[in-house]
Amino acid sequence: MNRTETLRMSEQVLHLLDQTLLPNRVEAFECRTIEQVFDAIVRLVVRGAPAIGIAAAYGVCLARNSEGKFSRKAALAAADYLATSRPTAVNLFWALDRMRSVINSVTLDGEELRTRLLIEATAIHDEDRLMCHRIGEHGAKLLQSCESVLTHCNAGGLATSEWGTALAPIYRLHQQGKTLRVFADETRPLLQGARLTAFELAHAGIPVTVCTDSMAGSLMQSGQVDAVIVGADRISAAGDVANKIGTYPLAILARYHELPFYVAAPTNTFDLTLASGSQIPIEQRGRSEVAEPFGVTTVPAMASVTNPAFDVTPAELVTAIITERGVITSPTRASVQQLFESSSG
Ligand code: MRU
Repeated sequence: MNRTETLRMSEQVLHLLDQTLLPNRVEAFECRTIEQVFDAIVRLVVRGAPAIGIAAAYGVCLARNSEGKFSRKAALAAADYLATSRPTAVNLFWALDRMRSVINSVTLDGEELRTRLLIEATAIHDEDRLMCHRIGEHGAKLLQSCESVLTHCNAGGLATSEWGTALAPIYRLHQQGKTLRVFADETRPLLQGARLTAFELAHAGIPVTVCTDSMAGSLMQSGQVDAVIVGADRISAAGDVANKIGTYPLAILARYHELPFYVAAPTNTFDLTLASGSQIPIEQRGRSEVAEPFGVTTVPAMASVTNPAFDVTPAELVTAIITERGVITSPTRASVQQLFESSSG
């Protein structure tokens, strides 16, 4: 597996670039069972909202019944099981719903059904690639006048099939001959910014500077940042954005410093069933990620720890949401609805 390939399905094996090992080792994690796919999603071997959805879709194709055979019943059970892996990124449920719809709309079973489901999972994967490119196209226009942007977590190729969401406009501009300077927030506690965003941008030849999360305000104050661009895990009907913990304070900082705060996400990241961001379920992760990061104890045993993996940025702090269907400027319930009504993809 090479460093630019986030995931790949071969006949009976889902190959994932093991993101827990980056940037030190480029190794594949091979999934032959749905339990391995579940484990990979929970441990963030594969992570990022779109990539989780794609991995889960392929995961359904690995379902087996008690006789070791693929079946409709096993596939439906696999979809239900994989849906319990992580709660926040809606792309996971969206992708699994697509797989369930295929199962429920055909009379096939066994290997014939598996072949049909592989086609669907591959379509989800391919569509994601296209969406990233379209987001890149729309976002490049918004970032055209910037010299330097700050991003949080990893919303790049490692979080999707290619190019990513927040990093897509940066890749597109680079392709057009304009290279932005990127500040990558370290992103405590799991360091997706330092380990992953810096890794993929550096390999693409885009200058990237890692800063700890607490440096963002000072960088903005000293005029070193022209815009903030992040991805999203779930967006409510009102345009409130759940993304990696630490995104909300960045939006407040951007507002104070009068900098644009952009969110880049495909439309399958919207959850129109949720009226507001307060209804988005926030994943709580374990103590060890904060208290023993990367195997080193940094918190005394008698202190407790909190570890919400995501926060919610209210729509009023968002300058624009960049989707594959177009840009929603100053998102509101009405403008979100308008995008969905006026475009079909
Ligand atoms: O916990 P993670 O690493 O899965 O969190 C990922 C993020 O928060 C990303 O910003 C988001 O999924 C968008 S990825 C295009």
